Formats: sequence, C-alpha cells, structure tokens
Amino acid sequence: MTHTTLSPTRTCHESSASTYSRRLAIIPVEAQGVRVRDADGRWYLDCLCAAGAMSLGWNHPVVTEAIQRTLSSGAPLLTLDFHHPLRDAFVQDLLAILPRGLADDCVVHLCSPSGANAVEAALMLAEIATGGRDHVAVQGGFHGCSRAARGVSSGGGLRDQPVALSPAVHFLPFPQEYRCPFSLGGNEGTALAISALEHLFGSPHSGLRAPASVLTEFVLGEGGVIPAVPAWAQALRRAATTRGIPLISDEVQAGMYRTGRPWAFEHCNVEPDMIAISKGLGSGVPIAVLVIRRQFDVWGEGAFTGTFRGNSLAFAAASAVLRYAASAGLAGHVADMGAQLRQGLCAIATEAAIIGDVRTIGLMAGVEIVDPDAGNDARGVAAPAPWLAAAAQQACLAEGLIVELGGEYNNVVRFLPPLTITDAEISDVLDRFHTAVQRVQSRVDSHSLTEFA
Ligand SMILES: Cc1ncc(COP(=O)(O)O)c(C=O)c1O
Repeated sequence: MTHTTLSPTRTCHESSASTYSRRLAIIPVEAQGVRVRDADGRWYLDCLCAAGAMSLGWNHPVVTEAIQRTLSSGAPLLTLDFHHPLRDAFVQDLLAILPRGLADDCVVHLCSPSGANAVEAALMLAEIATGGRDHVAVQGGFHGCSRAARGVSSGGGLRDQPVALSPAVHFLPFPQEYRCPFSLGGNEGTALAISALEHLFGSPHSGLRAPASVLTEFVLGEGGVIPAVPAWAQALRRAATTRGIPLISDEVQAGMYRTGRPWAFEHCNVEPDMIAISKGLGSGVPIAVLVIRRQFDVWGEGAFTGTFRGNSLAFAAASAVLRYAASAGLAGHVADMGAQLRQGLCAIATEAAIIGDVRTIGLMAGVEIVDPDAGNDARGVAAPAPWLAAAAQQACLAEGLIVELGGEYNNVVRFLPPLTITDAEISDVLDRFHTAVQRVQSRVDSHSLTEFA
C-alpha cells in the first residue's frame, strides 16, 4: 500500500518541532464523523481525532450549526471577558455537568485557548492563593508545552530540552498494574505509592517546601492510558486538604465524557478544587477554561488575561457539545462503545505476543507493545518495544486506520476515537487493527521488520 508522500513545498517552511505530519503521511482535506479523507482520495478511520479534541467527531452537525448560527447572528466574534449571552449560556451548560458542590461554589475562568494555558493559570493561582512555590505532580503526567506546563510534565522528551524549567516540582509515582514503579502491582503497589505520597507531604526531610498545589490527570493520557487507583487518588485528596492547597485535575484529555463520565476524577470519588478543561470541550473549536473553587479565586484584577479567551464561536460550539452530550446520553454511549472496544482489543491481544497489556477506560484505549524475544525488563515485565509500536502505527495507516502513540517508552498504541463512534465503526477499527497487528507479529516471527523501517 502506498501513501501520499508529503510534497517538499509543504514541508520546507515547517518548524522542526512538527510531529504528526512526520509520522503519519497523510494530508487531511475532508473529514466527517470518524472518517478523514487524504488528499489522494483515500478515507481513513481516525482514532487520533486531533489528539482527542474532536469529541463529537469531525464536523458534527450540532457544532457546525452552532458556528453557522453564531456567524450569521451578528454577534461579536471576540468578547474578551465582557458578558455576552453566548458566554453566560456556556457557563451554565458547563456548571450543569460539574459535581453539585463544586458547581455551587466555583468560578469559571476563561483562559487563552489551549490546555497548557489552563494548567499555567492553575499553577500560578495556586501559588498566589497559598504562598507556596513547590508543586506536586505525578510521574507519567503530561500537561502541555508552555514553560510551566512542561515544568510539571514528567516525560524526558520535554524535560531534556536545553531550556529552563519552572516551577519547582516533585513527581510522585503513579500506581499502576503493568509497569508498577515498585514492581509489585495490585494492592501492594498502590499501598507503596500511598506511602510515598504520605512521606513526601509528612516528612520534614522529604525536600518539599511549603507546597502550592497537587496536580494530576486522573487517567494518564500521553502517559499511556493509565487510570488512577481510587484509594491513591483519595490519599492525594486528603494530603491536599490537610495542607490547605488545591487539588488540580487536568481534564484536558480525559475530561468531557472521554472516560464514560463527564470527568475522569469521578471514577475515583474525589472532588478537585480546580479543573483544567480544553480539547473536547469545543469539539475542534479552540477553548480552554479553568474551574476554580471560590476559596482559591484570589486573582487580582487583570492578573491572568489573554486576548483570545472570549470567542463567541467557541462558546457556541462548547454549549452545543455540552447540550448534545446531555440530550443524547453520551456518557452511556461512551461506556457501551468503550466496552466493545475493550473486548475486541483484548481478543486481539490473546493471539499477539507483541501485545503486553491492554488498558481502556471509556473511549480511551492503550495497547502496550512489547518485544516478545527480549525477556523481562528490570521491573519484571516484558521489555517495551517502541520500534514495534511505530511499526504497528504504520501498519495501521496502511490498513486505513489512524492511531496515536504514547506511554512511558512511547510503546503504547493509543485510541481516541470520537465519542459518537458507532458499534459498526468500532468493529471496523478492530478489524483493521487486527490485520495491522498480525502483519507486525508475522514480521517479528520471521525476524524481518525492514518493511516498516
Ligand atoms: C492532559 C493534558 N493536559 C494538557 C495538555 C495540553 O493541551 P494543549 O496542547 O491544548 O496546550 C494536553 C495535550 O495533549 C493533555 O493531554
């Protein structure tokens, strides 16, 4: 199978930081639902969906109608933080899906339209509110590429750049079953992770100065689709409460129904003090907000502003997404489709030695690719095989399926399909992934991976 090759004229003015266009040789020119059409006419099933931003899929009618209605209404396109009926309606729609206690006791801060900016706002506000300077974040967390957001992200790829990182941060181990940081997994691994966090907050020798915040994703997204363990999340909540500092939930990727509930923290029975929201909120239209429990809303006037934070198209699109989610029963649909995706991926895993683990929550799925011939790594788990994951991504593309990579070793094939995906489309995704995995597995078995080199 051949793919469209990127023309030199297209790439020669591109920053060397570009990423997707290097790995996925397509030029998307048309898109609808879960499907994207390449410039050469071929349609792909898209389980990357603009890094999870297309919550309702490409060009969902409720979103495009909301945009068109707003455009033809004569509404001002950019309202800074002026009040406007579209903004007020959006805030009400958002409050409707927050936990009641928080909805009654919060403000919605408009950020510049990126997840990183919402995280920046949270970190800065936490410092102002508490007087603390240190932040506690988690190993495996990813929060964006601005200076502060990358400063609290643990991945080496970001941190190894020759740039100063701020703020001061302590990274806690994130409990997990497969690549448990303590090589234990299960309740024992969780107990040790809880001990580590209690020690960090409790010991005068832990190195933690007066902390400003605790920040986590409740499902590691870029970190490889790892849901938080409720007991650990509750310990994190207790530590924040005891220290009087905010618990910040980064819901940029796992929020907005991605996990089958409006917010990922709901799976852990905890309530955060700040919530960073972006990506799926506008289903393709840039918008980011920070929900702040009132006790921490101590900004001075104009302390955190941005020109492009009052966009009427974004308010209209986000309201449309929120209303559609409620009226169409999106949470239940995501749970059902997620179960089907999980079942199919687990079935594929049983016959493929290159698959070490399958992790899913709602419509967020990660398939851990390992080297079946390399034996176990230092943690007693099959060695990660990022080159095989890259080969699997290319094999998927050849089958007409777009997937993402991530994880601690960039060896996790990730699926972030639209939340509106149907069961027939899930079956199609699974069939194509199955074929792609079989191709890579047979190359591994015959020791000839050059096809994907
Ligand atoms: C959990 C999480 N937080 C923050 C961000 C950063 O969002 P943005 O790329 O919009 O700045 C991302 C992006 O992938 C993310 O996954």
